[in-house]
Amino acid sequence: MNFRKIFILIFLTYICNIPILFAKEINIYSHRQPFLINPFLEAFTKETGIKTNVVYATKGLAQRLKAEGKNSPADVILTVDIGRLYIYEDMDLLAEINSPILDQNIPVHLKSKRNTWFGLSKRSRIIATSKERVKENDILRVEDLAKPKWKGKICSRPGSHVYNRALMASVIAEYGVEKAEEWATGLVSNLARRPQGNDRAQVKGIYEGLCDIAIINNYYFGKLKYSEDPVQREWAKSMRLTFPNQEEGDRGAHINISGGGVAKHSKNKESAIKLLEFLSNSKSQKMYSEINFEYPVNVKVEPSEELVSWGNFREHKISIEKIAQLSIDAQKIIDRVGW
Ligand SMILES: [Fe+2]
Repeated sequence: MNFRKIFILIFLTYICNIPILFAKEINIYSHRQPFLINPFLEAFTKETGIKTNVVYATKGLAQRLKAEGKNSPADVILTVDIGRLYIYEDMDLLAEINSPILDQNIPVHLKSKRNTWFGLSKRSRIIATSKERVKENDILRVEDLAKPKWKGKICSRPGSHVYNRALMASVIAEYGVEKAEEWATGLVSNLARRPQGNDRAQVKGIYEGLCDIAIINNYYFGKLKYSEDPVQREWAKSMRLTFPNQEEGDRGAHINISGGGVAKHSKNKESAIKLLEFLSNSKSQKMYSEINFEYPVNVKVEPSEELVSWGNFREHKISIEKIAQLSIDAQKIIDRVGW
């Protein structure tokens, strides 16, 4: 084959998206549950011919990657919460990526300044209130949770969980440490019980009348609403969903991300980047809201009809990286106030 033919082949491969120049297989380390990511991976393999192998674990993947060093088979990391993504960057486990597609699809405030990690979906930490016992519009802001009026009315999972730690960080970003601690003290003094359980358990608390208010991630509402368990569907019916801090001039609702990056020592970086690009494209972005009730990060993509039916909301547009940086201060406050 002469040079001209090789050039044409490469060109066609590129414009037709034919995978012959990419590795045929990539390895993913995932904190995300298989049932959530498998539909995406199946579609990716179908489109590109690149097969995926997934190592799934809820804990310890960053340590494993670190220990494996240059010999690690990992190509892509997928996880939830900026706190966890940031740990990978902090431990220098991610490669810096140059991808015009990712740059185009993912807003600046939802990715690393160094181009090491990228937000792939958004979730809002919302306020769930009892439809029966809390009037609509009685709670409109996260700040309202600290009002003495709600003494003994709030259920919460432990403050040290990454979801709450990030929320705490967003309050610090707005008010500084001292005022943020006052807020947290007020919130803790309003708790109906010792912080415990996951987000779903807080909605159960509302259903059972243990409390009237809870803080949860928006997608749990969808999971409960469409649960196979009829009892969980009743939990969802008992609550109203409020996106906080929406009034004119207010900062918007706190959001967090799921996201990913390419492993620093990946041997298949082109294919790994291709997966991240695939996850940021319109089709995948729509799937995030259809499969897991999460919001697209890609502004060109509309959320699913179900999500739209929950109402529009404005998000707090602080750099998500800033939230990660404030998480140490956030944890100190959480420890001091006993959340
Ligand atoms: Fe979750």
